[in-house]
This record gives sequence, C-alpha cells and structure tokens, in this order.
Amino acid sequence: MREVIQAPAVLEGSPVPPGDKSISHRALLLNSIARRRATVSNLCVGDDRASILRCLRGLGVRIEHHIAHPWDYSTDNFVVHGVGPDGFSEPSTVLNAGNSATTFRLVSGLLATQPFFSVISGDPSLRERPMDRIVSPLMKMGATIMGRGGDCLPPLAIRGGNIHGVRHKLAVASAQVKSSLLIAGLLAEGETVIEQPALSRDHTERMLAAMGADVEVDGLTITVRRSELNPLDVQVPGDMSSTAFWLVAAASHPNACIRVKHVGINPSRTGVLDVLAAMGARIHKENVRADGSEPTADLVAESSDLRATEIAGDMIPRVIDELPVLALAACFARGTTTIRDAGELRVKESDRITATANGLNRLGARIEELEDGMSIRGVGGLTGAESESYGDHRIAMTMGVAGLLAKGETTVIDSEAADVSYPGFWDTLRSLQGTTRAAS
Ligand code: S3P
Repeated sequence: MREVIQAPAVLEGSPVPPGDKSISHRALLLNSIARRRATVSNLCVGDDRASILRCLRGLGVRIEHHIAHPWDYSTDNFVVHGVGPDGFSEPSTVLNAGNSATTFRLVSGLLATQPFFSVISGDPSLRERPMDRIVSPLMKMGATIMGRGGDCLPPLAIRGGNIHGVRHKLAVASAQVKSSLLIAGLLAEGETVIEQPALSRDHTERMLAAMGADVEVDGLTITVRRSELNPLDVQVPGDMSSTAFWLVAAASHPNACIRVKHVGINPSRTGVLDVLAAMGARIHKENVRADGSEPTADLVAESSDLRATEIAGDMIPRVIDELPVLALAACFARGTTTIRDAGELRVKESDRITATANGLNRLGARIEELEDGMSIRGVGGLTGAESESYGDHRIAMTMGVAGLLAKGETTVIDSEAADVSYPGFWDTLRSLQGTTRAAS
C-alpha cells in the first residue's frame, strides 16, 4: 500500500489512540500465569497483539475475545483464563512472535521457567534483533537455550524449568529485558535482583505489585521472589507512543489543535511530553486520573513556536519509541537538536537512525546521522516527496505526520507497516484534515 498525503490548512480533531501496547502485553501474559480468570479491556490492536495472543494460546492458555460493538474495537474485552505457573503446555510447533520483540522477550522469560521444549521465532526483522541480552541471564538462571550465531539470534530453542534467581546488571536500560527476567524470577527458586543503568518503562513492576507478587523497587534495583499472582482486571490506558504522533503533528503545524483522551501518563513513558515542553510545545493535561496502577490524562496540543533541544542520557529510555517523530518536530524548531546515547535505535524494528534520517532528508530535512543518535538542523519547513516505511510501523507513521506538515504531496510506500501497532492510523490521519487519499 501507498498513502498519499497533503498538508491541510487546519489540523484538528480528537483521535482515540489504541490501548497501550506494553501494558497490554503484560496484562495478557501475567494473567496467564495467575490461576483464575481476568478481564482485559481496551487492549492494544494490530499485528503485535496478534503475536502475543498467538504465543500464549500456543502454550495452552484460553483467551476469549468478546466483541461488544463491532464498529468500536475499544469496547472489546479479552477474558484470560489463567493456567497457573504449572499449567502451560508444551507447544507442538514453533511459537511465532511476528514483528514483536516485546512478545519474544517476555514469552522467552516464561519459557525459561517451563520444564518443556519450545522454539520461538519471528518475522525477518525480529530474527535479526539481538537476543543475547536475555539469553545469557536466563542461562545463568539455569535454562538451556540455543540460538543462531554469536548474538543468539532467533529462533531460540529453549528447555527451561528448575531455574534459580540471580543478580543481574543490565548493560542497556531495556524494559523488555528487565521484564523477561522479572517473569523468570517470579517462578524461580530464591531471589532475582536486577540492576538497571537508568529507568525504563516500569509497567511490569507496577502490575506485579498490583497482582500481589513479592517485588520490591529500590531506586534502579528491583528484587523479585517466587510468588503466586492474583488475577487482575485491567483497563488499558491509551498508548502514549501512538499519541506522540498527534502531539508532534499539532505542535509543528501552524494552525492546529488536537485533543487525545485517556492516555497513559506513567512517568517512565512521558519523556516525550518533557522533551516537547523543553522545545516550547503548547501541550497541557486535563482530567488527570490515578485510578489503578497506571495514571492517565487527556492531552491537548496546539500549534507552537518550537526551539531546539538536546535529548540524551537518562531521558533516552523514556522516549525510545518517540525519537523518530521527535526528530520530525526538531525539523520545525529553531536551532540544532541533538539526540545522543540512543544507539538502541539501531536495533529496533529497523535501524531507526538511518531510516529517520533518510526518510526526512528526502523531504528536505538536514539530519546528520551520529553513531548513537542524530543532529537535526531546524529547517522550518519540509517539501513532500516519496518515502519508505522500511517495514517499520513507527517510521511509516513518522513519515505520515511529515506529510501533514510538508508542502505539496508526500507518498509513504509500504504504509501498511503502521498496522503493527496502529491499524486505524491512516484513517485517523485523514479524519484530522480530510485531504489525503489512499492509493493502492
Ligand atoms: C517495550 C520496551 C521498549 C520499546 C518497545 C516496548 C516494552 O524497548 O522500544 O516498543 O513493552 O517493554 P526496550 O526498553 O527493551 O528498549
């Protein structure tokens, strides 16, 4: 698919983002380990959701999908029939995590605790993503794991069971790795202690605590001991990473106001709000709510006079998924923005440093690649051109938003990549301005 976009004179609307992808994964997986049923509502949508559901069902977990109103997926419910830590069954075929590294890494943590043989794999992009970061600590805990090449690339063959807790220092601030080890630690003998170099999203820690697990967080150190989980009904908040596209669109467009309701504002995810505030973006919160373990708010973003900033250090894990679209905002800011310490971007669904720089430079941006980031000169405007998604959902959507801001016509090739996390993205984009048309 190709999507052809033109910048509208006015950009306005109230998009409803999908449920948070990270929280959805944890709600499904942790409730599978609990013993009774739990209901998850406003689950994320898209291919990544299909991936986690497929893997858990492949392990014998019954998960029912109840459709309340076929025209509104946000009213769907998923009922998870938890099997308990010993109730998973040996999969008779390869577990397919698709494009989702979150599915792959979290499910691998569970497989390391199970006394059976399993193989987990994914699509071509996932099969090139480094897994040694989970394989080494899970093997240290006692699991037997084999993978391809020196970096333990997928597929992984895992035989787990009888594992014991370890103390592990994470080399990178990764929530996927941390969560994989927390899940393994929950079912391991003894104590598992994880030391993080910086705070990454903490949804797993919060949900484990809400489900009654023996988990303690002391600064950047997390300790988990073997425990039973109580089932937890979860109302998943809107996804901040999906919302970020609309916030940047509004802040960078000369005549815009966009309101997004019920977005998760867990502080480990709000780096994008902090960076945009430092850039002078006019974004405010309304209806801040703290019900459940994840705070939410409505966010209102308006046209802004943006200035350059520096994004580096401990901020990086808090904005890791939003960096491509923040690079787009930086094109509209006065001065030169630098992004540093973000080498992890090179091992995401695509090499997001190269993909972002190449994609936006085609539209007239002045972005220089750095080994661990980008230097982005504010050029004040972009000109439409043809660009690619690199098969990466966040690059597809960044280029879509660029089309809302660029002069002339922007074409995004392989635009269906957005379906991984935001299947309604292109319709929503059209609804905010009404002048794009889809071509096939
Ligand atoms: C995720 C963590 C992040 C993020 C990914 C989802 C998660 O990766 O990029 O989209 O749900 O744990 P890392 O923190 O592992 O880099």
